Amino acid sequence: MQRTLVLLKPDAVQRRLAGAILSRFEAKGLRLVGLKLVQADRALAEKHYAVHAGKPFYESLLSFLTSGPTIALVLEGREAVTVVRSMMGATDGAKSAPGTIRGDYALSVQNNLIHGSDSPENAATEIALWFTQAELLGYALCDASWVS
Ligand code: PPS
Repeated sequence: MQRTLVLLKPDAVQRRLAGAILSRFEAKGLRLVGLKLVQADRALAEKHYAVHAGKPFYESLLSFLTSGPTIALVLEGREAVTVVRSMMGATDGAKSAPGTIRGDYALSVQNNLIHGSDSPENAATEIALWFTQAELLGYALCDASWVS
């Protein structure tokens, strides 16, 4: 089973779309193993987006992530990284396909509702940045053999 970090970014919280987005992942069969509401500070945002330091949109991206509460999730399931990225849709909401989260709910390239780790290796790093080990819960689901 693979784990991935998902952020429902401040626009998702402000637009009251968090439940609708989380519901899609639950319905897909992904298991929720971590969830919390976080007011990211600049230090956390800098670490999360370190790979983008120096890009023209970097400062704006930091301001956005720190502009209000974010919901951080860890989701687990078969091919969780790829499954979440597919469900998110393309970065630019205006170009993301209908049926994806961004395609259905976003128009902006920055205010695009959701972040998902782009590889299992980055997922491990990002999960450790946003969660302590004690905040991640392993538990059995009665439907595990039906959806995996
Ligand atoms: S890139 O440039 O190829 O690294 O872009 P991408 O991997 O698709 O996006 C990385 C994150 O940066 C955000 N992004 C932007 N923010 C503001 N303005 C512009 N122009 C812009 N381009 C990309 C994008 O939403 C990604 O955020 P996360 O949270 O990682 O999905």
